[in-house]
Amino acid sequence: MSKFSLTISANDMASQIADLINSGKQLWYHLTAFSILNGPVKFLIEIDKDKIIGVIGLEQKSGHVTELKYLCVHSNYRRHGLGEKLLRLGVNSAPTKFVYGAVRSDNHTNIRNNFKCNMKPIGKYRGRGCNIIIFARRKENAKSSLRQKRAH
Ligand SMILES: CC(C)(COP(=O)(O)OP(=O)(O)OC[C@H]1O[C@@H](n2cnc3c(N)ncnc32)[C@H](O)[C@@H]1OP(=O)(O)O)[C@@H](O)C(=O)NCCC(=O)NCCS
Repeated sequence: MSKFSLTISANDMASQIADLINSGKQLWYHLTAFSILNGPVKFLIEIDKDKIIGVIGLEQKSGHVTELKYLCVHSNYRRHGLGEKLLRLGVNSAPTKFVYGAVRSDNHTNIRNNFKCNMKPIGKYRGRGCNIIIFARRKENAKSSLRQKRAH
């Protein structure tokens, strides 16, 4: 039995996450509750009562690399530092040494937040209608801090 149980069902949570990410209009495809529940991405969420108001996804690509994706804050809760908080949490929670995420070149807020979280631009490619910048960070002590945690 897990230590914590939530009052929201998994289906409700997945459907809220899909709706929130779709409302961000950053993807050229739509997410569904099914794809959230059955995909490889783990989600960090911020809730207000029983409503999901912020989310970031972590997809571990290999033993060394995690992609951060699907960052979105509900429009009623923006400009209170939640976007930066979730991004920082995502970077810090990534189980690998390297972490990266793609940001549209016209998303100035998220570009600034990436810099605030010590993410560095490492590349750029032409996306649908705008450039996409890849921000990445190498977490120097990722492995040693994991070992320390296990040792205690
Ligand atoms: C990008 C996004 C996640 C940012 O979320 P957010 O919660 O508004 O982010 P923050 O609050 O951390 O930062 C937003 C701005 O508010 C400012 N801010 C933060 N706390 C504040 C506060 N207490 N009072 C006033 N302003 C504040 C920040 O400095 C930042 O200013 P800037 O835009 O001039 O840089 C959000 O706009 C969003 O979900 N957009 C749609 C989806 C999206 O673009 N996702 C990113 C895909 S890569």
